[in-house]
Amino acid sequence: MRILVIGSGGREHALVWKLRQSPLVAGSEDIFVAPGNGGTASLAVNVPLKESEISALVDFARSRHIDLVVPGPELPLTLGVTDAMNAAGIACFGPVAACARLEGSKSFAKEVMNAAGVPTAAYGVFRDLDSARAFVRSHGAPLVVKADGLAAGKGVIIAHTEAEALEALDAMFSGQRFGEAGRIVVVEEFLQGEEVSLLCFCDGLSALPLPSAQDHKAAFDNDEGPNTGGMGAYSPAPVLPDAGLERLTDLTVRPVLRLMAERGTPFRGILYAGLMMTADGPRVLEYNVRFGDPECQPLLMRLTSDLADLMLAGARGELASRRLDIRPEAALGVVMAAEGYPGGYAKGMSIEGLDEAESLDGVRVFQAGTRREGDRLLASGGRVLCVSALGATLAEARDRAYAGVSRVRMDKSRFRRDIGVKGLKRLHLL
Ligand code: AMP
Ligand code: GLY
Repeated sequence: MRILVIGSGGREHALVWKLRQSPLVAGSEDIFVAPGNGGTASLAVNVPLKESEISALVDFARSRHIDLVVPGPELPLTLGVTDAMNAAGIACFGPVAACARLEGSKSFAKEVMNAAGVPTAAYGVFRDLDSARAFVRSHGAPLVVKADGLAAGKGVIIAHTEAEALEALDAMFSGQRFGEAGRIVVVEEFLQGEEVSLLCFCDGLSALPLPSAQDHKAAFDNDEGPNTGGMGAYSPAPVLPDAGLERLTDLTVRPVLRLMAERGTPFRGILYAGLMMTADGPRVLEYNVRFGDPECQPLLMRLTSDLADLMLAGARGELASRRLDIRPEAALGVVMAAEGYPGGYAKGMSIEGLDEAESLDGVRVFQAGTRREGDRLLASGGRVLCVSALGATLAEARDRAYAGVSRVRMDKSRFRRDIGVKGLKRLHLL
């Protein structure tokens, strides 16, 4: 079976690593990655195509007789890569554009949650400044102001005061900060609680939940500093134990599958519910229509099922006959980023010690912003590596991942030292 993976992050390195283990995949010449990174180069064939070049990706897939396309990031999905591949007769494990709007438009996601009866924060959707201001005045702070469109995680402003909320509205409606993404604005109730991620394999009708995961979005320890793509993740998150997975899937994922199927656009791919576990019960903060990065890395370390088979079955609507086999061990990944990230960051540093890190029990290093130059590996992105480990317990997975981090040599790098701490606290281990 020949597979094309789209993307260039740590998530895609993990996807390729896991797909390579499938008995359906003969070898490295059967997996292509567009555009890939230094890590995928050693497991598969990197192809110099951007994730947004949809028609070039389709041409490539057709000419190489690709059997399955696996888009990693949201951009190609919102641009319709699945629709385009399907039109060319090629299976693609990802939602069509009409479903990718669940991530691409926050107002659409809210409308779907409402129609499907999924619990979420109370909200209003606004297309003009005056009505949004009136809503803010009548509700008072704290509130959360969100630009409707994709804004690379930066379109969400937590407003602790009414003045901050009004300022956020001005910034969005003036088009200065978010451009098109901010022409429609969602204002919602501020929720308190612990965040956790529920990711499901979906085939249009069936949803198979992966165990829970928790991301660390803030740049610095104790959730301080600006938001990033994610500085580390682990699974399972004690705030959502395995025993709660089916119930939460019934509450937050299956109603959306039913609704999208009724609307004639069944959801296939990974549906990722970002949840806030509040005192009043779970609430969906957002949907992503793909694996999270870095949540994917620890999750795939725990998955023992054949990923290529699952994805093909998902694309064909055949997941009801499959199950997810999961290792009982915990997994945890620590992102090593370039100094300055998520702002302007250092580049070109050489990276050494990955073999030493991977020689430790349970440790695997997934590469993100890296490139090969001869036999050297160089940093080329904000998030550079995700050093991940399995362990009998969360504490062991954490110790092993940080031991791995200590073997990596890279100038101008930084990482959070508290990945997994929330989970350990909940287990009363800290
Ligand atoms: P979103 O992209 O909608 O998930 O928002 C990004 C982040 O903003 C979330 O991961 C939360 O940390 C925070 N956030 C979003 N909505 C809310 C809310 N209603 N209450 C509190 N925090 C929120
Ligand atoms: N780590 C969060 C995301 O991938 O959206």
